[in-house]
Amino acid sequence: MKYHHLVLLCIHTFVLIFCVNPAFSDSDAKVTILSKQDDSSRPLHFKLKHNIVLKCNSTGNGEIKWAKGDKLVTEIEELKDRIEVSTKSDNTSTLVLKEAKDSDAGNYTCSLYDGDSKMASDTIRVAATTTGKWGLRVNKNVNVVEGEKLTLKCEVKGDLKLDWLYKNITSGENYTELVERDRITIKNYETDDDEKITIENGQVDIEDAKMMDRGIYLCRGIANDGEMYNASSTVRVKDKYAALWPFLGICAEVLVLCAIIVVYEKKRNKTELEESDTDQSPDQPFVSGKTPPTTVKSQT
Ligand SMILES: *[C@@H]1O[C@H](CO)[C@@H](O)[C@H](O)[C@H]1NC(C)=O
Ligand SMILES: *[C@@H]1O[C@H](CO)[C@@H](O)[C@H](O)[C@H]1NC(C)=O
Ligand SMILES: *[C@@H]1O[C@H](CO)[C@@H](O)[C@H](O)[C@H]1NC(C)=O
Ligand SMILES: *[C@@H]1O[C@H](CO)[C@@H](O)[C@H](O)[C@H]1NC(C)=O
Ligand SMILES: *[C@@H]1O[C@H](CO)[C@@H](O)[C@H](O)[C@H]1NC(C)=O
Repeated sequence: MKYHHLVLLCIHTFVLIFCVNPAFSDSDAKVTILSKQDDSSRPLHFKLKHNIVLKCNSTGNGEIKWAKGDKLVTEIEELKDRIEVSTKSDNTSTLVLKEAKDSDAGNYTCSLYDGDSKMASDTIRVAATTTGKWGLRVNKNVNVVEGEKLTLKCEVKGDLKLDWLYKNITSGENYTELVERDRITIKNYETDDDEKITIENGQVDIEDAKMMDRGIYLCRGIANDGEMYNASSTVRVKDKYAALWPFLGICAEVLVLCAIIVVYEKKRNKTELEESDTDQSPDQPFVSGKTPPTTVKSQT
């Protein structure tokens, strides 16, 4: 009889363990990540700067939590401000990761928890799309007229952190970091396409361009893995009056020509007058007492 009690106690304990431990109480708890591809070995690709949306559903009661690697997304400093988790009453949960970065690639797990214990989970591998080559582009040659505004834009492919270098060709110095000055600002710009991606530090504005601004402006991009890219633009500043010089030249030429013509005309008039003074025509009366040779001859 004593053994009988013991057996009962054992069964009771067993039942208790199974019933109290939620992991066993809801044995058909299941979590499915819906964003998975048919071939689950292939990762879900995301585009940089776009949102990553992951959705999962579950059977069983509990709390759905998202983790990246072995850490809850809410505990990852880098993700904190960019995530939004919405869980609906039908046990579906959506994780939105805004403005995806390179570093967001990894394994994301949707888990169903009851208290502290995990009842079920599903994991998806997420990777960045790197279609095409990464790189930068700026206008190779830029001409600006002194006093006007100059804008340089660095077009970016990939997730690159940008900065600008400047090389003074007049002094032959090396590249140095382009620093913002009163006339020079480095700012963000938004791409023209419908994606409207913000390119941080992608634009250099030079107000009231001066001769001293001439030089090579280099846009440099650094990827997460340390890979560097660069593209440079040679800026020429043209004299404000550059267009005026040829015009002034023509004016000067016209003036000189006019002057020459005037002087020449004056001179010609004068010589004509003088010529008319000396070049006597025969029918004019003699002023001097001299008689023409013929008359002289006839007289002798
Ligand atoms: C979760 O979604 C999958 C795929 O749509 C579906 O087969 C499954 O029944 C769903 N599970 C729950 C609990 O809603
Ligand atoms: C994600 O999981 C895959 C397969 O389980 C593994 O090969 C890979 O190293 C994991 N990635 C990371 C960043 O942990
Ligand atoms: C570049 O060098 C020239 C000659 O040394 C200097 O006059 C000019 O101010 C320099 N420009 C800048 C932007 O430093
Ligand atoms: C420019 O930089 C290169 C390499 O960093 C260095 O060898 C060279 O001496 C520098 N030139 C000047 C003028 O500072
Ligand atoms: C720009 O890139 C070229 C080629 O990758 C490299 O040789 C050069 O040193 C880079 N220039 C700067 C200023 O980083």
